[in-house]
Amino acid sequence: MQIKTDVLIIGSGIAGLFAAINCSEFADVLLVTKKEKTDSNTNYAQGGIASVFDQADSFDKHFHDTNIAGAGLCNKNMVEIMVKEGPARILELIEIGTQFTKINGHLDLAKEGGHSHARIVHAKDLTGKEVERALIEKVNSIPNIRLIENTLAVNLITEHNIVNLKHLPINSRHCFGAYILEVNNNQVITVVSKVTILATGGLGQVYQHTTNPSIATGDGYAMAYRAGAKVGNMEFIQFHPTSLYENSKKNANTHAFLITEAVRGFGGILRTKDGNAFMKSYDPRLELAPRDIVARAIDTELKKHGDDFVYLDITHKNSNEIIDHFPNIYAHCLSVGIDITKDFIPVVPAAHYACGGILVDEYARSSLKGLYATGEVSMTGVHGANRLASNSLLEALVFSYRASLDIKKSLNSFVQSSNHIPPWDDTGTLSADEKVSIVHGKKELKQLMWDYVGIVRSDLRLESAARRIKNLFTEVEDYYMKTKVFSDLIELRNLVTCAHLIVKSAQIRKESRGLHYTLDYPDKFPENIAENTIVQNTYQTS
Ligand code: FAD
Ligand code: SIN
Repeated sequence: MQIKTDVLIIGSGIAGLFAAINCSEFADVLLVTKKEKTDSNTNYAQGGIASVFDQADSFDKHFHDTNIAGAGLCNKNMVEIMVKEGPARILELIEIGTQFTKINGHLDLAKEGGHSHARIVHAKDLTGKEVERALIEKVNSIPNIRLIENTLAVNLITEHNIVNLKHLPINSRHCFGAYILEVNNNQVITVVSKVTILATGGLGQVYQHTTNPSIATGDGYAMAYRAGAKVGNMEFIQFHPTSLYENSKKNANTHAFLITEAVRGFGGILRTKDGNAFMKSYDPRLELAPRDIVARAIDTELKKHGDDFVYLDITHKNSNEIIDHFPNIYAHCLSVGIDITKDFIPVVPAAHYACGGILVDEYARSSLKGLYATGEVSMTGVHGANRLASNSLLEALVFSYRASLDIKKSLNSFVQSSNHIPPWDDTGTLSADEKVSIVHGKKELKQLMWDYVGIVRSDLRLESAARRIKNLFTEVEDYYMKTKVFSDLIELRNLVTCAHLIVKSAQIRKESRGLHYTLDYPDKFPENIAENTIVQNTYQTS
């Protein structure tokens, strides 16, 4: 089956939904999402959205804080755009019905690590849920947005799918849409679009311990890379310092529960198991140092003492205020026997966010014509080597909006060459008769990435990881070529590709910078190699 649309958007988190609303003003939009519409990282965001709303704050300060966290690698032009356009986009969220927390009629602004001012707009500790709710309600009310759940994008369509255009050089290629798996009936349909927006979110599931829900399998990075788009800075994986340590938790195979950075902003103190408040030995900003520093400090303390977790202590604060600010965390912790008003919270770092991604310009345009990328899957350059807390939702809003501005101008310059695009071809493949190799492959990959490509890296660990990933890649490709596609197989294939991209980029970077810390080049980065790591697939797979 073939479907035609003006704009194909893949993903229903903040980036995809906001782009859909804006594009619907001038075009028909088809939005596909691989599970239910609220299954997204966005839905789990706690802390909030960073932006300048306080008179005593300034764009300069937000700009400066973002650049400091980014460790010399931020694209200053993009940071300036994000910081300055942020407030208008947040006001649009409010206009469509998002209820942010207020005090005395004004937005209640919280403080998080690396911010010199309280500037986090939030909805208690459930910001993402509230934003997602409001965006979905708005999308549901717009007739020319068609949102289809349980539809998983498998591959982007470019000239390489078209017989007589196969050999067009990679840098001249266009994206014509995508092959999409209807998950419930295992049929692959062809969606032909004038433009395609990848808003597929992150890749946290490549690691054993992550705050990211199960949808975060890096599909967008892998699809774009396979299609020949440029991908950058994949080595910069952010580990959130404080995910809840649960010994026998029920969601052990999916993701860890986050204890928002706002708890440290509220006065939370990190302690070793024997009660020592250790951040004073690492950074004068203590618990509110940027995330890379706090996560490494915790990792060092865990290794020094042989412990499984450190504690986050908020017990010195007023109980009612704790419950009022963090109702979600209070309830979750209580459900596992921890009363955060009285007990220390056991925490460990977990993979949280990918700072790199599909290289885009100031209008979210990728290096493939007709392909845009927004949200976590993109690399706008605003995060550099380390993202400042709560800048992700902001980036998604600002650049999704900008994508829509560009699409409005150029939509009709893109051809919709549906006649030449062949349907999905899976002749010669068989239905999977067992899935044990998928389950095993995923476990192996996640453990490998955690042990060898985690918070602290080395040349030797990266080399070992690269060898093992190559083997996994070969096995998965072999299985993929012989089998009718299904979700778990597609996701594993994408996870392996993302692991490859992370390791490859980490091997290129011969320095420690921001989130990439290696024992072989432990010194602070010399200024003269402040460069992005850009990789591009030079061959074509389907
Ligand atoms: P997502 O919200 O992840 O949405 C991606 C969408 O794409 C999903 O709908 C998914 O199902 C769909 N999808 C993926 N692959 C496919 C495919 N192949 N086919 C079809 N659909 C697909 N950032 C902040 O700024 N502030 C915070 O307070 C904050 N807190 C966070 C807390 C947690 C626990 C986590 C995990 C992240 C947090 N972040 C926060 C980061 C932020 O939430 C994410 O970076 C952001 O939500 C990403 O939005 P997105 O729209 O790009 O992707
Ligand atoms: C948090 O609430 O700590 C997460 C914020 C973020 O990832 O930006």
